[in-house]
Amino acid sequence: MTRRFPVARPCLGELEERYVLDAVRSGWISSHGPYLRRFEEEFAAHCGVPAAVGTANGTVALHLALAAAGIGPGDEVVVPALTYVASANAVTYCGATPVFVDVSPATWCVDVSEVAAVVGPRTRAVVAVDLYGHPADYGALRRLCDRHGLLLVGDAAESFGGRVGDRRVGELADVSTFSFFGNKIITAGEGGCVTTVRADLADRMRLLRNQGMDPRRRYHFVEVGFNYRMTNIAAALLCAQLERVRQIVGRRDEILHRYEEALSGPLDAQPVAAGVRRAPWMASFLVPAGRHRTRATGSSRSWTGAGWRPGRSSSRSRSCRHTRGRSAAPTRSRPTWPGAASTCPPTAT
Ligand SMILES: Cc1ncc(COP(=O)(O)O)c(C=O)c1O
Repeated sequence: MTRRFPVARPCLGELEERYVLDAVRSGWISSHGPYLRRFEEEFAAHCGVPAAVGTANGTVALHLALAAAGIGPGDEVVVPALTYVASANAVTYCGATPVFVDVSPATWCVDVSEVAAVVGPRTRAVVAVDLYGHPADYGALRRLCDRHGLLLVGDAAESFGGRVGDRRVGELADVSTFSFFGNKIITAGEGGCVTTVRADLADRMRLLRNQGMDPRRRYHFVEVGFNYRMTNIAAALLCAQLERVRQIVGRRDEILHRYEEALSGPLDAQPVAAGVRRAPWMASFLVPAGRHRTRATGSSRSWTGAGWRPGRSSSRSRSCRHTRGRSAAPTRSRPTWPGAASTCPPTAT
């Protein structure tokens, strides 16, 4: 008999049930309510920043951040070639052009020397993606962006809880964006957030998130904005997940390390840079050519999820400038949801 194991499963318990029920019974199910404020305050505190702006998902969090910074038609934004499609789509929503560059084999995150090579007069921002939970090289990116006056965006959809030295993901870029999709480290089913140290950007994102409505005058719309709001129900789930975050992350860490111990050898695990604390999102491995299909093993089937495909191989990104690449090797990811290791055997197939 073939058994299949999901690559991700949310870790939800009694606390989540209690908070969601509380939100439902209170009648605050849309984008007002006490859980929203509480979530934004607690998430900002977790990331060590003054402001967190909750959103409907991680894709619109990216768009909101770029739009608030005034990225628009004619601008170029540097994006790693190896990422989820949303990192580049958000640039396109602004009418700007994503410029794809290669990743470094040392971390699988964007190669800073490749970013430097494409910076030109139209470059306005860099989107650094913390691939599979590994924070990008923010120190070097910060220096590069400061030198050229560029906005540094951290796409931290996959890296909540990661650190570089003693600094947390969420405080490493001008703006950092998170996803709370069902497969993420903490989840609300759908949800997102932007953290920032810049009060001007936080104010602007709050305005744009809410249809461009003047925060001091209800139903006075001072410009064209978006409905990118988070619901109080999603925030209730997230408040519970934040309360349980140590337990969730601790268990994911354990599972990830077990996979890496068992599989490093036949496969190459994603390397971790010195001084980095990777967020345990996925246990990801480079797969030798010809071995990138799952294979039944005895009575069970080892389950892997395909890693992200290089963005530059998509038809849209072919029209963009990009450097020659190393980011085309197939990757596979192993499940790290709490409970996975007892059901999903760490085989290399
Ligand atoms: C790197 C990256 N950026 C952005 C997103 C988009 O987040 P969402 O699915 O919440 O819109 C994801 C989601 O998987 C992601 O992995």
